[in-house]
Amino acid sequence: MQLELPDNTLVVASHNQGKVREISALLAPLGFKVVSAGELDLPEPEETETTFEGNARLKAEAAMSASGLAALSDDSGLCVDALDGAPGIYSARWAGPAKNFAIAMRKVEDELIAAGATAPADRSAHFVCALCLSVPGRPSQVFTGRVHGEMLWPPKGEHGFGYDPVFKPDGHDITFGEMDPDAKHAMSHRALAFAQLVEALSPSGA
Ligand code: IMP
Repeated sequence: MQLELPDNTLVVASHNQGKVREISALLAPLGFKVVSAGELDLPEPEETETTFEGNARLKAEAAMSASGLAALSDDSGLCVDALDGAPGIYSARWAGPAKNFAIAMRKVEDELIAAGATAPADRSAHFVCALCLSVPGRPSQVFTGRVHGEMLWPPKGEHGFGYDPVFKPDGHDITFGEMDPDAKHAMSHRALAFAQLVEALSPSGA
């Protein structure tokens, strides 16, 4: 990693504790000081774009401008094929102001049933993660990762966050919610986007 950052610090431009925890774990080997937007009391910008990439850029650039430091944002969500990609960029909003994911998972399941998607083959979905790195004086860079799988019901597992208990990644028999965090970090949409970020920043990719 050759990138020089002001104060050797990277702001994780998120107020979502689950994401901050996962991104901090992924960043740990890279040797930066990591602080969250919450710790710096930065405002949370409204997500007004129509794509994961657009919202990631908006969040990282807002955190960079407000802090004067390099910022890394994550815009992510769950896209269910039988629901035409919903909840998609609205994944957080389906949990309502109280951020209640029991309600959000139930809503996805109710809509799958309403769409007649009860057979496993009709319940395909993927998680998307767009990461944006904004460094003062450099153009922002966006990296996107996806992991495909199937929606299960009822929710299973206490690990992870958000929709993890109802998402079973392809090739596995358990949900992200049941998976050991290190196993999820090794294969998730976030890990795949992160691998591209590290590759782009490494001496051979820079
Ligand atoms: P946003 O990127 O802040 O708009 O929120 C993304 C939302 O997508 C989160 O609040 C979660 O509900 C969901 N999400 C994103 N990544 C994951 C994940 O790794 N597991 C479970 N849910 C996720």
